[in-house]
Amino acid sequence: MKNICHICCIGAGYVGGPTMSVIADKCPDIQIKVVDINPERISAWNSSDLSKLPIYEPGLDQIVSRTRGRNLFFSTDIENSISEADMVFISVNTPTKTSGLGAGQASDLRWVEASARQVAQCAKGHTIVVEKSTLPVRTAQTIKEILDTTKQNNLVQGKNPTFSVLSNPEFLAEGTAVNDLERPDRVLVGGEDTDAIESLVNIYLKWVPLERIIKTNLWSSELSKLTANAFLAQRISSINSISALCEVTGADVAEVSNAIGADKRIGREFLAPGPGFGGSCFKKDILNLVYLCGYFGIPEVGNYWQQVVELNNWQQKRICKIVLQKLFGTVNGKHIAILGFSFKANTNDTRESPAIQISLDLLEEGAKLSIYDPKVKPQRIQEDIDEYSKNSPGQWTVANDISEALKGADALLILTDWDEFKNLDWNYLSTLMRTPTWVFDTRSVVNSIDIKNAGINLWRLGEGV
Ligand code: NAD
Ligand code: UDX
Repeated sequence: MKNICHICCIGAGYVGGPTMSVIADKCPDIQIKVVDINPERISAWNSSDLSKLPIYEPGLDQIVSRTRGRNLFFSTDIENSISEADMVFISVNTPTKTSGLGAGQASDLRWVEASARQVAQCAKGHTIVVEKSTLPVRTAQTIKEILDTTKQNNLVQGKNPTFSVLSNPEFLAEGTAVNDLERPDRVLVGGEDTDAIESLVNIYLKWVPLERIIKTNLWSSELSKLTANAFLAQRISSINSISALCEVTGADVAEVSNAIGADKRIGREFLAPGPGFGGSCFKKDILNLVYLCGYFGIPEVGNYWQQVVELNNWQQKRICKIVLQKLFGTVNGKHIAILGFSFKANTNDTRESPAIQISLDLLEEGAKLSIYDPKVKPQRIQEDIDEYSKNSPGQWTVANDISEALKGADALLILTDWDEFKNLDWNYLSTLMRTPTWVFDTRSVVNSIDIKNAGINLWRLGEGV
């Protein structure tokens, strides 16, 4: 078994950054370089002001502060970092293809391919290549072929590199990444080369109990990652479908969720209804699964999973319709405050956030929006809205705090479950708003009695009348 002294991680994003920070923290004897083609991202990781790290993740700043410069380094020097490494993690983005064959479903693997080519060009000796990105099943085969056929330059220079490829998908969730990495439910390692598997397992054993490390073949590991995300997303679409049924029947989705979650076979996790799942993973990974099913000639299975995404789109779209209905059929010219723009609490990530679609729908109806989020930067909100909408200038603004967002508002929508939205002073806030005043709570975070006592109308997702 090869003892790993130098790691290189290609991709300093939401996965590469936190994952390598935790490995560096747990394994002080391993030197780790996290590299990226994006110099701004690397310089943000190197920022002396820890509040300027590119990713907001509770607890991450402390880990970076004790490891950075000791055995954790962020760099744009990709070539040297690869050639020094015994093990290279590929942790680059794998978004859904937007054009060409498989557009709208298949993963775009161009960044994975570029990384594999770079490893083949720069590696020295035996290098273990670890797939950390979420990849379609059988991608390891492609990586192996690229590594074996692209290493010509290296051969000419007499370096004679050899490679083992492992799959080690990441299961962290944003907002809880540090805890997920320090106390994972399981670590999955797929591969054929038992020596390489043991080298990787040996790293995790520094803090993960052996019984939580699962070894599989390469293809099971790749497919397990897509399947885990599909199952989690499916639960959310299931409870969201029932939330709509609750609203028209007088049932309360919180009570239904509690009642079914008490069954050990169902369990309580991932049964919170909401405005639809967001984030960079669920939709992309299910669409990829659907594409794979088509590719392998089983469209019936693909259609089954496609429905999870359809229901999610529908859930997002129905929120604007409800607001319209409650505000006398029109929101044109009305002021609406949006509280929460990230796709979930405790992250500044807005990728696939339901807040984007819901804001766009309201802008389309002529509403004036004031958007507040505790961690998302105004520029991010600007880019997200401008990407899809040609709304009139001045139709929306970013507020610095909740009071500013609510000034003169006819309604407010809570779209993210940030803690700071849970205990608001509704008596005071109601004085800032125009009557009749509405609160639309899609995350069940507000206290309904306080709201009603303040004379505000409340619509809560999944609550029947
Ligand atoms: P990200 O977009 O935040 O980061 C990817 C980084 O890779 C970017 O900074 C990009 O500049 C860099 N990159 C791309 N090509 C490169 C190259 N050739 N050389 C060097 N750097 C390069 O993405 P992410 O959220 O960290 O996700 C990475 C992978 O992990 C994806 O496959 C994703 O599906 C998977 N994943 C993500 C999460 C999550 O919560 N975000 C969780 C589990 C798995
Ligand atoms: C997910 C997976 O949980 C993680 O294992 C994988 O590695 C990456 O994808 P992430 O997208 O970061 O993680 O967050 P997650 O907590 O799963 O939430 C995804 C979306 O579902 C969010 O928009 C969240 O608000 C929503 N959600 C989650 C619900 O609406 N209800 C729930 O009960 C749980």
